[in-house]
Amino acid sequence: MIHCFTCHAPHSNGNFSLRVTAPQTLQNGVSHDIKKGNICVACHQARRNVDTYVDIGTVTLSEHWGPHVA
Ligand code: HEC
Ligand code: HEC
Repeated sequence: MIHCFTCHAPHSNGNFSLRVTAPQTLQNGVSHDIKKGNICVACHQARRNVDTYVDIGTVTLSEHWGPHVA
């Protein structure tokens, strides 16, 4: 279940600061920085680079493509 300690780590940090604040590097190499929202992007981002993964010419897709499947 997603709860307070999903995003905050009071026991290891000693306060309610966020677990993740650093900019997140996306699959296409772009550095994404929305400050305190970087915690969200740590989970909410594509796990595949669509620029190369979705290629109609040479279809290399798995039938399970999506964020949770290899
Ligand atoms: C999905 C991630 C997430 C969850 C779950 C979450 N928080 Fe937060 N929390 C944040 C973010 C992001 C901020 C910073 C928001 C801002 O300052 O704009 C924040 C800010 C805070 C702050 C202010 C910290 C400060 O230094 O100003 C407190 C206190 C806090 N949360 C407590 C809680 C508690 C208690 C829970 C559970 C009931 C909880 N949070 C659940 C993401 C989360
Ligand atoms: C630890 C990973 C994680 C983090 C960090 C996280 N999320 Fe999520 N989020 C999830 C998962 C997993 C779900 C799906 C939960 C479910 O369906 O029960 C979700 C669901 C959601 C939803 C859909 C809720 C719904 O009822 O459909 C929204 C909107 C969302 N997250 C926004 C955020 C925002 C904004 C932050 C940052 C403050 C954040 N998330 C941080 C993992 C995360």
